[in-house]
Amino acid sequence: MCGIFGLISKRKDINVAQLIREGLERMEYRGYDSAGIALVNNGKIELRKKAGRIADINADGWFDKMPGQFGVGHTRWATHGPPIANNSHPHMDCTGKIALVHNGIIENYQDLRRKLTERGHKLVSETDTEVFPHLIEEFRKTGLDLKDSVIETVKLCKGAYGVVVCDADNPEYMVVARKESPLVIGITEDETTYCGSDIPAFLPLTRNAIILDDNEVAVLYPGKCEIFHVDDGEKAKREIFTVDYSMDAAQKVLDGKEYKWFMHKEMHEIPRKIIDQVRMPQEHLDEFAQAILNADHVFITAAGTAYYAAIAGKYQITKFGGPYIQGILCSELVDALPTIPPNSVLIAVSQSGETADTIEAVRYAKEQFGVKICSVVNVVGSSLTRYSDHVIITTAGPEIAVASQKAYCTQVTALSMVALKIATLTNTLTTDEIEKYESALLDTAEACALILKDEKSLINLAHKIAYKSNLYFLARGISTSAAFEGALKLKEIAYIHTEAYAAGESKHGPIALIEEGFPCVFITPPDQTYPKIIGNVMEMKSRGAMIISVVADYDVNISEISHHTIRVPIKNNKYAIAMSIVPFVLPLQMLAYFVSDYKGFDPDKPKNLAKSVTVK
Ligand code: F6R
Repeated sequence: MCGIFGLISKRKDINVAQLIREGLERMEYRGYDSAGIALVNNGKIELRKKAGRIADINADGWFDKMPGQFGVGHTRWATHGPPIANNSHPHMDCTGKIALVHNGIIENYQDLRRKLTERGHKLVSETDTEVFPHLIEEFRKTGLDLKDSVIETVKLCKGAYGVVVCDADNPEYMVVARKESPLVIGITEDETTYCGSDIPAFLPLTRNAIILDDNEVAVLYPGKCEIFHVDDGEKAKREIFTVDYSMDAAQKVLDGKEYKWFMHKEMHEIPRKIIDQVRMPQEHLDEFAQAILNADHVFITAAGTAYYAAIAGKYQITKFGGPYIQGILCSELVDALPTIPPNSVLIAVSQSGETADTIEAVRYAKEQFGVKICSVVNVVGSSLTRYSDHVIITTAGPEIAVASQKAYCTQVTALSMVALKIATLTNTLTTDEIEKYESALLDTAEACALILKDEKSLINLAHKIAYKSNLYFLARGISTSAAFEGALKLKEIAYIHTEAYAAGESKHGPIALIEEGFPCVFITPPDQTYPKIIGNVMEMKSRGAMIISVVADYDVNISEISHHTIRVPIKNNKYAIAMSIVPFVLPLQMLAYFVSDYKGFDPDKPKNLAKSVTVK
C-alpha cells in the first residue's frame, strides 16, 4: 500500500526525476490516488505533488523536468486525509530542508502531532506521516546527524513504516528505515543506490538487492549502503542477493503479443505457472506437509482472494488424509483465538507476503503461543517468509494487476500439492493413485489453456451481465472457494454488487431477493456435491433467477436447466474432478475481466484498492 521509489547516483548523465517517475509507475499498483517527488537540488528541496495518476500528472513532463541530484517519490493510497495535493507525499519539515515519504501507519500520530504543534511546528496536512519530518527536524537541531535523527524519530513512532528521508543539507546520502512495511534496496556497485517498496521498483536498473529488516535504518550512498539496528545503533551485516525475476513481468507482452491490460496478460500466464508449481522443489513440500502432520491443531489464514485459495487448500488437505483445518480470516484471528493450543501450526497464504493483517496474525500466533508457521507466499524475501518456519514459494512471479488471479491459481495448486504429499506420507493412497492425481493436477494447465483460447463465449456472457445490479455466486463443498473468488473479482474490478454463499445457505435468507432475471452463478463440478446442488439450482430457477452454471464440458443435467453454461474441459474421472478447482474458477476471473473491460474500467487498478495491503 503506497509505493516508494528513490535513488542516489554518482552518474551525472541521468535524468534523476525521470528515473524516479518511471520507478514510481512500476510501483503504482500499490496505490494510485496521488503522487509526488522531492529532489535535493543544490542545497534546496525541489518538491512537486498532485492528486491523480502519474501518467496524467506527468502528461507535460511536470515530474520529468524537475531539477535535482537525488531524491525520492511516492504514489499514494490514502489512509489519513483525502487524496489531495496537501496530503500527498513527500512531506516536509518547517525549514523546508527535510523531505520524507512513508508507507504504513503511525498509530500515535495524534499525540505526536499535538506535541509538535504545541512546540510551534506548522503541520499542513491531515496525514500521520507529517510528524516524521518535523521530529527529524527537532533532532537535527540538537546536533544529531540525519541517520541518528531518523533513529531517534522512529523510536518515538508506534506503528508501521517504510520511510525514505532526504535532507537538503546532506548532499552525500539519504536515509531509509523500516518496521512492518516493506523496503528494499537495489545497488549498482560503486555507482547508484535505489530504494523501493518492492523489488520490481528497480528491476530494470539492477538485479542486486538487499532487504531491510524490521527496526533497521540504512544510509544510502551512491553505489553502496550501510545498515544499522535501531535499538543499539550497531551496524548490521547484510548480503547482496541477485534477483532472478524475469523482466517480462514489467511488460504487457507475452509470447510476442501485446495485451491491453496486465490482468489479461497475467491470466494467459496461468497455464505455465501451474506447470511450474506442480514441479516445485519436493524438499519444501516434504517439510511443509510433515509439519502439518506433526501438529495437534492446524489453522489456515489469509485475506481476500488468498483466503479463498486457503479455503480450497483446507478442503483438499483434509480430503487427502490430512487433519481438519480451521480457516480464520487473518483480520479476525487475534480476536477469534484468545489462546492457541500447544503444538499448533498456522498456514498463512499471501501473494505479497506483506499484508498487515496476515503478518499480525502470524506474529501473534508465533510470538505469543509458539505456533509453527507454514506459509505459501509469492514474494521471495517478503516479511511473511521471514516469520515462517516452512515456506512454499508460489511460482506466479510478479503480479502487477491489483486484483490477484494468477497468484490465486498457483496458491491453490501449491496447496493441492501439499494435500498429495500428505496422502503420500500417511499412506492414504497408493503411489499409483498419487501419480494419477498429480498428473491430473498438471492437466489443469492444459484445461486452463483451452479455456483461455475460447474467450468469445465468455465475452458474450460478460455483455449479458455487465449492467446487472446484483449477482449471487453459489456452490457447495470445495467449490464454495470458487464462488467467493468469482464474486469478489466481479465486485472489485467491474463494480457490481455480488454475494457468494454455500449453496445450501441460499434458502436460509438470500433466496428472498430472487426475482425475474436475478443472475445466480452456480459452480457445479461433477463431484459428490452435484446431486444436491441440482436442487439448489431449481429452487432459484423456479423463482425466476437467471441461471449461469459452470459445468464440466460433458455435463448434461445442470446445463439443461441453465440459461447460460460455461463449459470446463476436464476429463471424466475422479482424478481430474478432484484437481480441477482452478479450471472451474478461471472462467469466473475472466468473466469479471471482460465485464470490467466492456464497461470501460481499468481492471488493473480498481478504484479504492491497492495491491499489498500494509495497513490493518
Ligand atoms: C483480490 C485481492 C486481494 C488480496 C488480499 C491479500 O483480488 O487481490 O483480496 O488477495 O489483499 O493479499 P496478499 O495475497 O498479498 O496477502
